Amino acid sequence: MTGSRIIGWGSYLPEKVVTNDELAESLDTSDEWIRERTGIRERHVGGSTGDMSIRAGRLALEQCGLTGEDIDLVIVATSTPDQLMPGTSAVVHDALGIRGGACDMQAVCSGFMYALTAANGFIATGLDRVLVIGADSLSTYVDWDDRNTAILFGDGAGAAVIERADDQTLLAFDLGADGSSRHIGFTDHGGYINMDGKEVFRTAVRAASKSAKKALAAANMTIDDIDWMVPHQANVRIIESIAKHIGLPMEKAIVTIGETANNSAATIPVALDTAVGDDRIKPGDVLLMNGFGFGMTWASAIIRWQPPT
Ligand code: UT7
Repeated sequence: MTGSRIIGWGSYLPEKVVTNDELAESLDTSDEWIRERTGIRERHVGGSTGDMSIRAGRLALEQCGLTGEDIDLVIVATSTPDQLMPGTSAVVHDALGIRGGACDMQAVCSGFMYALTAANGFIATGLDRVLVIGADSLSTYVDWDDRNTAILFGDGAGAAVIERADDQTLLAFDLGADGSSRHIGFTDHGGYINMDGKEVFRTAVRAASKSAKKALAAANMTIDDIDWMVPHQANVRIIESIAKHIGLPMEKAIVTIGETANNSAATIPVALDTAVGDDRIKPGDVLLMNGFGFGMTWASAIIRWQPPT
């Protein structure tokens, strides 16, 4: 069985920051309400999905000393492509000089996790290196007059280079979906993000907790084996609730939502990059990556963090 490991990582957030107080100037909301109910302090907005993908992808390549010439496939996970067609991966392919193929993945906020797992599968079928990018520009699809959604979302991109390895560092994964719940969160062509927040909250906690437990069981591990949970950042209360359901102390959860808000497919790779960058995540650590998104989709992966020394 061929293994794979993450050898490069990087992330990018647009420069423009919108604080809660700035939102409260035009919306019937407050910094206090948003912090208490979501954990969000501010969000980064601006920049196209393609541009953010290129920046994050370039950082991930530089981090492991590779160029696009070394990459067999780039997968961009996004639900906010700049054009209906071609995929955002085409823009990235061109800008980074990727030698191999290019495709997009659409599983909304679970997209990066689906792409990461798919990359492992592509490597098992013969590829050597896959660049996986999660990127979304949700600010484009937010109705800034709707306090139910405007407070929650932001833009950003995160990337990882996955390489063939002798050891398997993807210890287990779980992918799932319930398409009959697609009405609780959606965006029509030309429309804004439409969401039943309470129902998304409930479904997300239930599905993501179950998924994390399934991945742990598949890895033959217990929650005590996990050093860090790297969760999707949609609401800090969702992260707290999932942590409680699976028995993980909150000190072991990487929380970046205060600065990023929910930038969809980007949240998990951005959180990973942040926690590796500030030395919380160290070589040998076991990570539980865990996400959910509209669809509803969900995904978990147990990964041993084993970058090249
Ligand atoms: O990746 C998936 C993307 N989506 C999500 O993850 C969303 C998941 N859902 C959530 O994060 C939460 O449900 C929200 C943050 C959207 C809402 O939080 P909540 O604790 O479920 O609040 P609520 O909807 O129960 O509203 C409580 C009160 C209501 O007022 P009343 O009826 O109690 O008088 C709302 O009208 O808070 C009011 N409210 C607000 N007040 C100030 C709702 N939104 C706001 C707001 N500012 N932005």
